[in-house]
Amino acid sequence: MSDQYCVFGNPVAHSKSPLIHAAFARTTGEDLSYTARLAAVDGFSEAVFEFVAMGGRGANVTVPFKEDAFRLATRLSERAERAGAVNTLAFNDQEIFGDNTDGAGLVRDITHNLGVVLAGKRILLLGAGGATRGVIAPLLACQPASLSIANRTVAKAQALSEAFADIAAVNAGNFADFAGQSFDVLINATSASLAGESLPLPPGIFAAGSLAYDMMYGKGETPFLKLAREQGAGRCADGLGMLAEQAAEAFYVWRGVRPETAAVLADLRAALGG
Ligand code: ATR
Repeated sequence: MSDQYCVFGNPVAHSKSPLIHAAFARTTGEDLSYTARLAAVDGFSEAVFEFVAMGGRGANVTVPFKEDAFRLATRLSERAERAGAVNTLAFNDQEIFGDNTDGAGLVRDITHNLGVVLAGKRILLLGAGGATRGVIAPLLACQPASLSIANRTVAKAQALSEAFADIAAVNAGNFADFAGQSFDVLINATSASLAGESLPLPPGIFAAGSLAYDMMYGKGETPFLKLAREQGAGRCADGLGMLAEQAAEAFYVWRGVRPETAAVLADLRAALGG
């Protein structure tokens, strides 16, 4: 029987992970099956134990279980520890290993797929929730000139700045606090796009030739990328590449083989109709 993997979420039926990992398995020749498993909102650990008892070898974890997975893991990678959340689990003997590939996925999409160098750049992260927390350390590892966090609730941006102060200085403020500054890479990690809302960004915040990156994706342009285009961002990208790259990194954690993402990314893009 093939090695079994899955993604846990609630809801999970919409997840693209089964399609992505099936494509990775085909192209790498790895013998595995990958399914989507719905867990009850208060039943994450039971769902994991059931899957392990069936012989499950590893899992991805999506909304709303990334913090549950962090608590359930018996061993954490350093990047999961830093992220405070787990999106990848590997089950070996008695161990539940927890990792987080989101930040690595974002960095690889920006640097490898989009060809944008992050070293020496002024980066602005918009939002201060779990999505932001997961990418701070991997972004700092790229040696940007500066990293700033703008959030509607300034206290949450400040708390993140303090949490990563041992790695590097991280500026924090609300959106208006960054008036008069401009950035080379602006990354939307808020959930504002989900509600179709746009962010109150001060004019002039997109430097000439800047990259506007939205971790969200969907059919058509997201509200953040529309704003970015209107305010003169040099380049716009949505989070579909990050989705494919975090999956490739998880596949590597499980199998020790790194799949190519270009073909699957093109398929995902075509399925979105973009
Ligand atoms: P996630 O885990 O996806 O990051 P989260 O922890 O709920 O989700 O964080 C959502 C982020 O989006 C927060 O930074 C939130 O701002 P607040 O901290 O002020 O709540 C931000 N956000 C959501 N809707 C927003 C909106 N309409 N305008 C600005 N920021 C918004």
